[in-house]
Amino acid sequence: MLASLLTISAALLSVHAVPFSSKLHKHTALVLIDVQNDFINGSLANPRAPAILPKLYELLDDHEWPYIAASQDWHPEGHVSFASAHPGAKKGDTVNITFLDIATKTETQSLTADHCVPGTWGAEIEEGVKARLQFLEGFRTPVNYIKKAQNHSVDSYSAFADNQYHQFTTLDSELGLHSIETIVVTGLITNACVRGTCIDGIKLGYEVVLIEDATETTSSERKAASIEELEGWVMNLTDWESANPTGLRRRSMREL
Ligand SMILES: *[C@@H]1O[C@H](CO)[C@@H](O)[C@H](O)[C@H]1NC(C)=O
Ligand SMILES: *[C@@H]1O[C@H](CO)[C@@H](O)[C@H](O)[C@H]1NC(C)=O
Ligand SMILES: *[C@@H]1O[C@H](CO)[C@@H](O)[C@H](O)[C@H]1NC(C)=O
Ligand SMILES: *[C@@H]1O[C@H](CO)[C@@H](O)[C@H](O)[C@H]1NC(C)=O
Repeated sequence: MLASLLTISAALLSVHAVPFSSKLHKHTALVLIDVQNDFINGSLANPRAPAILPKLYELLDDHEWPYIAASQDWHPEGHVSFASAHPGAKKGDTVNITFLDIATKTETQSLTADHCVPGTWGAEIEEGVKARLQFLEGFRTPVNYIKKAQNHSVDSYSAFADNQYHQFTTLDSELGLHSIETIVVTGLITNACVRGTCIDGIKLGYEVVLIEDATETTSSERKAASIEELEGWVMNLTDWESANPTGLRRRSMREL
């Protein structure tokens, strides 16, 4: 028995000795928030959004992550955030809605154009990011696609939970399973889903780093307000890469 255990541990040691990657960002996950066509050039087209794509490609091409989460708004037809679902309302309006499980409590819901309906092009992740995620999954990187705000009656900005904390996604438990301590947050849009994810990440005890040039929203003022609110949890990509060097050769999609 002891002899066989020793044989097994010797085998494990030799496996661990294989230098298959010394550049992994240990205990650190990349979180891509809603990098979906509708938020870039679809129904909520945003001319400021495409500028972050090269930064996201860099984070995917030049770094090795033990875990990546990619959230997607995944709204049913007639979702509570769609102006079209509220007679007489238009995009940009707000309405007060009652909590799903607390009849005496209300929250203010912003209304937008219909977006990110499953089965539509707008709900898909931007093609450059999507191709890279598929490529990395084909290697050894676990990628969790978090389909959020699926309940007709409640929106979900954060990738951790809906706006009423009625229901949590699998993100927190997946991060736990992968021993993640730090989340590097990127994506769209800064003052809504990115902000919500950062705040929940902080509440849940993660080290949060918002990469300020890998996130965008609809105006520089809105972006600045969120960056200021999250002060202490924000870095630019250059600074983050200096603090977290990678020797990973530029590979992957650029060479395919
Ligand atoms: C959105 O941008 C992508 C990538 O540049 C392009 O392929 C696509 O045709 C654009 N779609 C629309 C509706 O503008
Ligand atoms: C929504 O609630 C806010 C805060 O309670 C209130 O000031 C506002 O008047 C309400 N709006 C509507 C349309 O009822
Ligand atoms: C939305 O949440 C409510 C309250 O928990 C539930 O009754 C309803 O079935 C949910 N709808 C969907 C589509 O999950
Ligand atoms: C990143 O932030 C640092 C300050 O921490 C600043 O000196 C540098 O110019 C910034 N770089 C870019 C590319 O924005």
